[in-house]
Amino acid sequence: MDTIGRQVTAFVTLFMVVALIVLMYGIFEPQRRVAAAQQQKDASIERGAELFAANCAICHGPEGKGIAGAGFPLNTAQNHNGDAKRQAYLQTTIENGKLNVTGKLPVMPMWAEKNNGPLNDQMVGDLVNFITYGN
Ligand code: HEC
Repeated sequence: MDTIGRQVTAFVTLFMVVALIVLMYGIFEPQRRVAAAQQQKDASIERGAELFAANCAICHGPEGKGIAGAGFPLNTAQNHNGDAKRQAYLQTTIENGKLNVTGKLPVMPMWAEKNNGPLNDQMVGDLVNFITYGN
Protein backbone atom coordinates (compact mmCIF):
# COMPACT_ATOMS: atom_id res chain seq x y z
CA MET A 1 0.00 0.00 0.00
CA ASP A 2 1.27 3.45 -0.79
CA THR A 3 1.36 6.30 1.73
CA ILE A 4 -1.95 7.79 0.58
CA GLY A 5 -3.64 4.41 0.79
CA ARG A 6 -2.41 3.92 4.35
CA GLN A 7 -3.53 7.37 5.33
CA VAL A 8 -6.98 6.73 3.90
CA THR A 9 -7.22 3.41 5.75
CA ALA A 10 -6.10 5.04 9.00
CA PHE A 11 -8.60 7.82 8.58
CA VAL A 12 -11.50 5.50 7.79
CA THR A 13 -10.61 3.30 10.77
CA LEU A 14 -10.43 6.29 13.08
CA PHE A 15 -13.74 7.55 11.75
CA MET A 16 -15.40 4.21 12.40
CA VAL A 17 -14.05 4.04 15.95
CA VAL A 18 -15.40 7.51 16.72
CA ALA A 19 -18.76 6.64 15.12
CA LEU A 20 -18.94 3.50 17.26
CA ILE A 21 -18.25 5.46 20.45
CA VAL A 22 -20.94 8.00 19.58
CA LEU A 23 -23.36 5.17 18.83
CA MET A 24 -22.66 3.39 22.14
CA TYR A 25 -23.12 6.67 24.00
CA GLY A 26 -26.45 7.18 22.23
CA ILE A 27 -27.56 3.69 23.19
CA PHE A 28 -26.59 3.82 26.86
CA GLU A 29 -27.26 7.48 27.70
CA PRO A 30 -31.08 7.13 27.98
CA GLN A 31 -30.70 4.20 30.39
CA ARG A 32 -28.25 6.17 32.46
CA ARG A 33 -30.69 9.08 32.56
CA VAL A 34 -33.60 6.90 33.65
CA ALA A 35 -31.46 5.43 36.43
CA ALA A 36 -30.33 8.88 37.56
CA ALA A 37 -33.90 10.20 37.55
CA GLN A 38 -35.08 7.21 39.58
CA GLN A 39 -32.28 7.78 42.08
CA GLN A 40 -33.31 11.40 42.49
CA LYS A 41 -36.92 10.39 42.94
CA ASP A 42 -35.98 7.81 45.58
CA ALA A 43 -33.98 10.44 47.47
CA SER A 44 -36.93 12.84 47.27
CA ILE A 45 -39.32 10.19 48.63
CA GLU A 46 -36.89 9.52 51.46
CA ARG A 47 -36.78 13.23 52.38
CA GLY A 48 -40.59 13.37 52.08
CA ALA A 49 -40.94 10.52 54.56
CA GLU A 50 -38.79 12.36 57.08
CA LEU A 51 -40.73 15.60 56.59
CA PHE A 52 -43.98 13.70 57.00
CA ALA A 53 -42.89 12.08 60.24
CA ALA A 54 -41.73 15.45 61.60
CA ASN A 55 -44.65 17.66 60.50
CA CYS A 56 -47.71 15.72 59.39
CA ALA A 57 -47.94 12.50 61.38
CA ILE A 58 -49.31 14.35 64.41
CA CYS A 59 -52.61 14.94 62.54
CA HIS A 60 -52.54 12.43 59.69
CA GLY A 61 -51.15 9.54 61.68
CA PRO A 62 -47.71 7.94 61.48
CA GLU A 63 -48.86 5.75 58.60
CA GLY A 64 -51.00 8.42 56.96
CA LYS A 65 -54.19 6.57 57.84
CA GLY A 66 -55.68 9.73 59.29
CA ILE A 67 -56.85 10.57 62.79
CA ALA A 68 -60.59 10.96 63.34
CA GLY A 69 -61.54 14.64 63.38
CA ALA A 70 -57.96 15.81 62.84
CA GLY A 71 -56.55 14.94 59.45
CA PHE A 72 -57.87 12.96 56.54
CA PRO A 73 -56.21 9.70 55.55
CA LEU A 74 -53.52 10.38 52.97
CA ASN A 75 -52.35 6.81 52.57
CA THR A 76 -55.14 6.06 50.09
CA ALA A 77 -55.46 4.33 46.74
CA GLN A 78 -56.44 7.68 45.24
CA ASN A 79 -53.15 9.22 46.30
CA HIS A 80 -50.92 6.28 45.39
CA ASN A 81 -49.57 6.90 41.96
CA GLY A 82 -51.79 9.97 41.82
CA ASP A 83 -52.00 11.51 38.34
CA ALA A 84 -50.82 15.04 37.56
CA LYS A 85 -54.14 16.53 38.66
CA ARG A 86 -54.03 14.75 42.02
CA GLN A 87 -50.41 15.77 42.51
CA ALA A 88 -51.32 19.40 41.82
CA TYR A 89 -54.17 19.12 44.36
CA LEU A 90 -51.84 17.69 47.00
CA GLN A 91 -49.30 20.41 46.30
CA THR A 92 -51.78 23.32 46.62
CA THR A 93 -53.36 21.80 49.73
CA ILE A 94 -49.99 21.43 51.43
CA GLU A 95 -48.95 24.94 50.36
CA ASN A 96 -52.17 26.76 51.23
CA GLY A 97 -53.84 24.60 53.87
CA LYS A 98 -57.49 23.64 54.07
CA LEU A 99 -60.41 24.10 56.43
CA ASN A 100 -61.62 21.09 58.36
CA VAL A 101 -64.83 19.77 56.73
CA THR A 102 -66.34 19.38 60.19
CA GLY A 103 -66.05 23.18 60.55
CA LYS A 104 -64.07 22.60 63.73
CA LEU A 105 -60.39 22.72 64.59
CA PRO A 106 -57.80 21.72 63.69
CA VAL A 107 -57.48 23.03 60.18
CA MET A 108 -54.82 21.93 57.76
CA PRO A 109 -52.06 24.53 58.26
CA MET A 110 -50.42 26.50 55.45
CA TRP A 111 -46.97 25.06 54.93
CA ALA A 112 -45.45 27.01 52.04
CA GLU A 113 -42.79 29.64 52.64
CA LYS A 114 -44.85 32.05 50.54
CA ASN A 115 -47.55 31.67 53.24
CA ASN A 116 -44.97 32.13 56.00
CA GLY A 117 -44.89 28.38 56.46
CA PRO A 118 -41.74 26.33 57.13
CA LEU A 119 -41.52 24.37 53.85
CA ASN A 120 -39.86 25.45 50.61
CA ASP A 121 -40.95 24.27 47.14
CA GLN A 122 -38.57 21.35 47.14
CA MET A 123 -39.86 20.13 50.50
CA VAL A 124 -43.46 20.33 49.31
CA GLY A 125 -42.45 18.41 46.19
CA ASP A 126 -40.74 15.78 48.37
CA LEU A 127 -43.97 15.37 50.37
CA VAL A 128 -46.07 15.01 47.21
CA ASN A 129 -43.62 12.38 45.93
CA PHE A 130 -43.79 10.57 49.25
CA ILE A 131 -47.61 10.64 49.47
CA THR A 132 -48.09 9.46 45.90
CA TYR A 133 -45.43 6.79 46.40
CA GLY A 134 -47.66 5.60 49.20
CA ASN A 135 -45.64 3.66 51.67
C1 HEC B 1 -52.86 20.42 62.77
C2 HEC B 1 -53.22 19.21 62.11
C3 HEC B 1 -52.63 18.94 60.74
C4 HEC B 1 -51.31 18.87 60.40
C5 HEC B 1 -50.10 19.05 61.31
C6 HEC B 1 -51.27 18.53 59.00
N1 HEC B 1 -52.52 18.42 58.49
FE1 HEC B 1 -53.04 17.97 56.58
N2 HEC B 1 -54.98 18.18 57.04
C7 HEC B 1 -55.48 18.52 58.30
C8 HEC B 1 -56.91 18.72 58.20
C9 HEC B 1 -57.83 19.08 59.35
C10 HEC B 1 -57.26 18.51 56.86
C11 HEC B 1 -58.60 18.68 56.20
C12 HEC B 1 -59.43 17.47 56.28
C13 HEC B 1 -60.79 17.82 55.77
O1 HEC B 1 -60.92 17.98 54.54
O2 HEC B 1 -61.66 17.97 56.59
C14 HEC B 1 -56.03 18.18 56.16
C15 HEC B 1 -55.97 17.86 54.82
C16 HEC B 1 -54.82 17.52 54.16
C17 HEC B 1 -54.77 17.15 52.77
C18 HEC B 1 -55.94 17.06 51.81
C19 HEC B 1 -56.52 15.67 51.88
C20 HEC B 1 -57.67 15.52 50.93
O3 HEC B 1 -57.82 14.41 50.38
O4 HEC B 1 -58.43 16.47 50.74
C21 HEC B 1 -53.46 16.89 52.48
C22 HEC B 1 -52.87 16.47 51.16
C23 HEC B 1 -52.69 17.10 53.70
N3 HEC B 1 -53.55 17.48 54.70
C24 HEC B 1 -51.32 16.92 53.81
C25 HEC B 1 -50.61 17.26 54.94
C26 HEC B 1 -49.16 17.25 54.98
C27 HEC B 1 -48.25 16.81 53.87
C28 HEC B 1 -48.82 17.65 56.22
C29 HEC B 1 -47.41 17.86 56.77
C30 HEC B 1 -46.58 18.84 56.09
C31 HEC B 1 -50.05 17.91 56.95
N4 HEC B 1 -51.11 17.66 56.14
C32 HEC B 1 -50.09 18.33 58.27
C33 HEC B 1 -54.75 18.65 59.46
C34 HEC B 1 -53.39 18.67 59.53
